[in-house]
Amino acid sequence: MSTKVIAVANHKGGCGKTTTVVHLAAELADLGNKVLVIDLDPQANASLHIGLRHPSEVETTSAELLVGDLSLLSDALEEETNFKNVSLIYGSLNLGKTEDQLKDDAARPSEELSSKLELLKGLYDYILIDCPPSLKLLTSNALAASTHVIIPIESGSQYGLYGVTDLINHLSKIRRINPELKLLGALLIKHDERQNVCKLIRDEASTQVGELLNTTIPMSTKVNQAAILQQSLLVLDKNTKVRKSFQQLAKEIVSRVK
Ligand SMILES: Nc1ncnc2c1ncn2[C@@H]1O[C@H](COP(=O)(O)OP(=O)(O)OP(=O)(O)O)[C@@H](O)[C@H]1O
Ligand SMILES: [Mg+2]
Repeated sequence: MSTKVIAVANHKGGCGKTTTVVHLAAELADLGNKVLVIDLDPQANASLHIGLRHPSEVETTSAELLVGDLSLLSDALEEETNFKNVSLIYGSLNLGKTEDQLKDDAARPSEELSSKLELLKGLYDYILIDCPPSLKLLTSNALAASTHVIIPIESGSQYGLYGVTDLINHLSKIRRINPELKLLGALLIKHDERQNVCKLIRDEASTQVGELLNTTIPMSTKVNQAAILQQSLLVLDKNTKVRKSFQQLAKEIVSRVK
């Protein structure tokens, strides 16, 4: 098994990173894959959604793992979550100080996650990494450890592409330490092809990012409902349009990473 590691990154806040990680994980698992989610965001929203425990009760999270010893890996891995066939390495508020600790103490501050994930290669079909809304060391660690990256873009907002060229430049820098990193493309979130602003963002995203995923995700109140209920969309309402979009996304990813 060659494990695909996919970072979902964009330093723009609230563009749909966590939602993408959570529901892509559920759908990849539903297609028969073994999936691990790594939460690298101090807000720990992905952990709050899929974790059986509250992140504040978890002793070994991605924060301890990043600055600690390799032996912490088995403690950090939580096999069971609210989602079938999805495991989790929790995020936590402690990640707030991790970047400073990495800068001060690590030999290679951007490559701590990458070295720790080596041991997990072969155990999962997909590892999905939820990034925080910044381009600092946590996101660099995610990108340095990944085989692929998805960039969610909020389609319904005229500011959806703000800062995206910085992100593309950042990817070029990361490729110096991780030449394997492939851009799967921009993923349009809250997209409605009938709206002019969405069509504009689609064309601009295609130009600025260079790659666009065919699948787009529509706006739906089910997304917030699923988060509140800590459910996947396929459990909440498997026939809803937004769920089918995430299922389609999972299929597209599977065929693109082959
Ligand atoms: N397709 C959608 N339809 C409706 N609401 C959505 C959709 N996708 C995301 N949202 C909502 O938009 C908000 C931001 O989404 P999300 O938390 O996934 O973004 P994020 O990029 O992870 O944010 P942050 O940068 O803070 O980590 C959330 O309240 C989420 O429920
Ligand atoms: Mg998030």
